[in-house]
Amino acid sequence: MRHTILALLLSLAAPCTMRGQSHLAPCQETPEQKAQRMEWFDHAKLGIFIHWGIYAVNGISESWSFYNNYIPYEDYMNQCRGFTASAYNPQQWAALIKQSGAQYAVITTKHHDGVSLWDTKVSKLSTRHATAARRDVLTPFAKAIREQGLKLGFYYSLLDWSHPDYPNHTKTTIRYHIKDDSARWQRFLSFNNAQLSELSTTYHPDLFWFDGDWEQTAADWHASEIVARLRHDNSKVVINSRIQGYGDYATPEQGIPILRPQARYWELCATMNDSWGYQPLDNNIKPTHMLLRTFVDCLSKGGNLLLGIGPRADGTIPQWQQDVLKEFGRWTSKHHEAIYHTQAGLPAECFQGYTTLSPDSTTLYLYLPSPPGHGLVEVKGIANTVHRVWVVGNGHILSHKVYNKNFWNAHPGNIYISVPTSVLDPQITVLALLLDGPLRLDLGTGRPITAN
Ligand code: GLC
Repeated sequence: MRHTILALLLSLAAPCTMRGQSHLAPCQETPEQKAQRMEWFDHAKLGIFIHWGIYAVNGISESWSFYNNYIPYEDYMNQCRGFTASAYNPQQWAALIKQSGAQYAVITTKHHDGVSLWDTKVSKLSTRHATAARRDVLTPFAKAIREQGLKLGFYYSLLDWSHPDYPNHTKTTIRYHIKDDSARWQRFLSFNNAQLSELSTTYHPDLFWFDGDWEQTAADWHASEIVARLRHDNSKVVINSRIQGYGDYATPEQGIPILRPQARYWELCATMNDSWGYQPLDNNIKPTHMLLRTFVDCLSKGGNLLLGIGPRADGTIPQWQQDVLKEFGRWTSKHHEAIYHTQAGLPAECFQGYTTLSPDSTTLYLYLPSPPGHGLVEVKGIANTVHRVWVVGNGHILSHKVYNKNFWNAHPGNIYISVPTSVLDPQITVLALLLDGPLRLDLGTGRPITAN
């Protein structure tokens, strides 16, 4: 009986694919309802991505190092002995994340190596049972994140190269093929479902961040059912797209989109050097200025940035990563009005740089990563009157003037703003332009000649 009721509930909560409609939204969810469900994510803009696992012990690439045969599997797993979490302070982590201005955190509850950070009941391969830490490190993290008022996101690898019932072990060792042993595959799916249900019902995360979907098809993963189950547990849950498309938002990785992505919701995940986890030999560290540029690049295209950190095996966060987060914090708190709640800005032709708009599009924000040449900033194609221009974070009013605007044609002219060096931020200066109403663009295609 209980099973029948559950099956009925699941079918009601099932994604629309099951009824031949869009497979991205849960059933009967209108665009307005989706917008409501996605609201916190849309406004959050900045999240912190934490890759923490046994790979931090040797400082090698997470899971891939054994999959690609750079290290034998046994040696990789021996790192369990060095994963102590001896200086782990989740309150400090959460405080630092909060300080950075991020509104959510996503942590690797289980990477492709299969080591769970929580005390899963369906496997002994967890930090509690298999590592020197001998404890569940996820529960105190979830608590600390909630205490800071941040949203909680769980990264979960669908594939598990350690599990005896998962087809692939390394790139050269295949255990079996699904088509040859569907019972074995079903056992793996039950295992995954059990883990996901533990995560979903114990911690009630706001977001599931799937990964590793590429090895199997949506049908083999039973992707729509996984999503339906999670939505049944929490109808508000936000799910990324790496479950063969059955999610809410797109996840470009490292490559900053050049053009504005077509997906309404998206999030770039990016590292501070070239590694997700702690890799002390990776010194290809991106300057904070560059990371902030990446952040405003995402903002200007209406997306979020999920910025990676990789704590050590003892649970400490390398100082240089902390410094990046603190500088993000300085910049985000000074410029908060031009970050959270903004929407994508002007077409690229209108301004040589990054822009966003306030929710009602009556304020235009311009982001200046370097001092403007000759102290002048130019904006084009704005049909509105600009009432006022000020520097975000310190309130200085700047003078502005419109050139090339003639009474005998409709061309809106070019707005020039004088920006003295005294108002510049050491990283990225932000200007706000108060318009006489919602933004009206006038791009004047082809008109100048015919209007003469
Ligand atoms: C990739 C990698 C993985 C990393 C993830 C983060 O999918 O497989 O190692 O955790 O990207 O986005």
